[in-house]
Amino acid sequence: MAYQKPTGTQDFLPGVVEKWQFVEQKARDLCRRFNYREIRTPLFEQTELFERGVGETTDIVEKEMYSFKDKGDRSMTLRPEGTAGVVRSYVENKLYGEPDVSKLYYIGPMFRYERPQAGRYRQFHQFGVEAFGAVDPAIDAEVVSLGYQFCKELGLQGVKVEINSVGNPESRAAYREKLLEFLTPMKDTLCKDCQSRMDRNPMRVLDCKVDQDKFTNAPSILDSLDEECTNHFEQVKQYLTSMEVEFVVNHRLVRGLDYYTHTAFEYKAQGIGAIDTIGGGGRYNGLVSEIGGPEQPGIGLGLGLERILLILDKQEINLNAVKPLDVYFVALGEAAEREITKQLHLARKEGLSAERDYLGRKMKAQMKSADRFHAKVTAILGDDELEQGEIALKSMATGEQQTVKLSELLMKLREFAEKAE
Ligand code: HAM
Repeated sequence: MAYQKPTGTQDFLPGVVEKWQFVEQKARDLCRRFNYREIRTPLFEQTELFERGVGETTDIVEKEMYSFKDKGDRSMTLRPEGTAGVVRSYVENKLYGEPDVSKLYYIGPMFRYERPQAGRYRQFHQFGVEAFGAVDPAIDAEVVSLGYQFCKELGLQGVKVEINSVGNPESRAAYREKLLEFLTPMKDTLCKDCQSRMDRNPMRVLDCKVDQDKFTNAPSILDSLDEECTNHFEQVKQYLTSMEVEFVVNHRLVRGLDYYTHTAFEYKAQGIGAIDTIGGGGRYNGLVSEIGGPEQPGIGLGLGLERILLILDKQEINLNAVKPLDVYFVALGEAAEREITKQLHLARKEGLSAERDYLGRKMKAQMKSADRFHAKVTAILGDDELEQGEIALKSMATGEQQTVKLSELLMKLREFAEKAE
């Protein structure tokens, strides 16, 4: 029997991979401009890190983790998200001892055992950033705007930012009471998860996918914020406006992870069925200490790259990610064959993308191959031309042919490569 990929995973084949590289390159370039530096942490961590970090009453921890016992009988988990591992690394490597705000980013696979559908996979990829050490609302706005600009620069249409404040622990305690007053009379009508979460973590109930509609009249957390939280939120909004981020306040936005304090936000865009969230994030001022580090604030975001690529496709945004080949060499005869092997090497050394035939095909088939690679030019060498020290060049765009000296070939190829950019 032929093997198949695991449910909820994908193969990204040539032709599609280039789009991934394009999007990743955009992320890296944006991070360079925003002065975030890359961090790479393990794909698996101790299970307990996610239980404590992400929160025991979340869907992720309750239902979706890929956990296993390793041969030393330790419980390990494939990372379901990036923040917990980055916080662990920040603490373990004492990055908090550095004089500047630690601004970090990552791009890589995450794993959640979810029911697969368009836009929801068991292995998926996030571009995320985390900034540690600053409580200034300007950095909340910087993080929100970074994700927004990423979407804009990729050309995504109709991206909306929803923003909320989930306050500090004191504000949340006050809100918890009001929310319980609202939820208790309807407790019997709620799903099992909601019923159990009501006692343990009532705000999590607002994130329930089943009972959403019942919470339209739920009290707003914004009415329970104390002065400090309100001020912080107001300043974040002002900064966002000055940074040209289009946002709306959604007071029911609680996010699916437990670590958030103050700012919480999501990026939404239509195009993949029922799923409209392409990314999200927020501030997590208690997480570093929860994970055994000093009291250090943090804020970050995670964007789902599969979802972004799906919407780019849906909106027919052409990234022009597949680059044409600079030159395809065709040899007619044995001596010519030896010469193009050398010229191929020189062209590649010069930085050009170059290809030749390895299947002993006739000239016509080789020209078709050149077409399939979208070659800008084919360089055709016969034994006769070789004797003259010349080679024929055919522009694939115009069909024009010219003969050039072999000694000038590289210079000519470079001209072609630059002209056809
Ligand atoms: P999250 O909201 O759980 O946040 O995930 C962020 C994004 O990852 C989602 O908006 C979505 O685009 C994508 N995503 C999540 N699950 C799947 C899935 N099963 N298939 C495809 N895409 C998915 C976090 O993970 C936080 N760590 C974000 C953060 C960073 N907060 C602070 N710092």
